[in-house]
Amino acid sequence: MRPWQLDHSTDAPFGNGEQIAVDDLRVLREQFVDFMLGYKFAIDEVTTKINILREDFNNTHEYNPIEHVGSRLKSPESVLEKVRRKNYAMNLAAIRENVLDIAGVRVVCSFISDIGAIRDMLAGREDITVLEERDYITHRKPNGYQSLHLIVSIPVSRSDRTERIPVEIQIRTIAMDFWASLEHKIYYKYRGEVPPNLRADLAQAAEVATQLDEKMEGLHRQVDRGAHTRKS
Ligand code: GTP
Ligand code: MG
Repeated sequence: MRPWQLDHSTDAPFGNGEQIAVDDLRVLREQFVDFMLGYKFAIDEVTTKINILREDFNNTHEYNPIEHVGSRLKSPESVLEKVRRKNYAMNLAAIRENVLDIAGVRVVCSFISDIGAIRDMLAGREDITVLEERDYITHRKPNGYQSLHLIVSIPVSRSDRTERIPVEIQIRTIAMDFWASLEHKIYYKYRGEVPPNLRADLAQAAEVATQLDEKMEGLHRQVDRGAHTRKS
């Protein structure tokens, strides 16, 4: 059986012999590269949209809610590993439908209130459809992880067609991001088996991060009020 069922295969009959198998593999490889390229373009599209929002918001409100925008494209190896691990069908249509984090964009903002503002600005755009939302801020993960996750889909114009591509957008504060990157390193160092004392310390650090976020939000409000009072 062929390991991959092709998405838009011409279904040309395959002959016998090694040469045909090599051709078959070449076609599969080209299709996979083309498939992955769609996700790279989707990252470019989302990043551009976020940068436009940032500049526009800055211009209108004289305030920039976004500290940093990052992105990552899942490697082909990780995509295939996830398909195997989750037992998804090994074809491009099934991967598009099930693996929703091939394209990832992370928006790091200054204050907790910015998270909702950025979410609303993105979700309010006509060309962005929110497929899924996970609020790990209201419902923090047991280990302490906090972030707002959106799975969106956006249209990507290719040379010969338009595709809707899913993108995972993570929105979090600097403190939440700081915590998550350290936790990620610890998790990998211990291969997922984080010792109980470290787990407790991480949970406590998440609590401190929340307190810092709340304190900063309060300060930000005070400064904002002061600015408005001075203007009037
Ligand atoms: P995956 O199969 O890993 O993609 O998880 P999922 O589909 O259940 O989604 P989930 O929302 O739990 O996680 C998506 C992504 O959020 C992960 O790939 C990480 O980037 C991030 N994330 C989720 N949980 C944690 C966590 O506990 N620690 C850190 N550092 N990152 C996390
Ligand atoms: Mg993931």
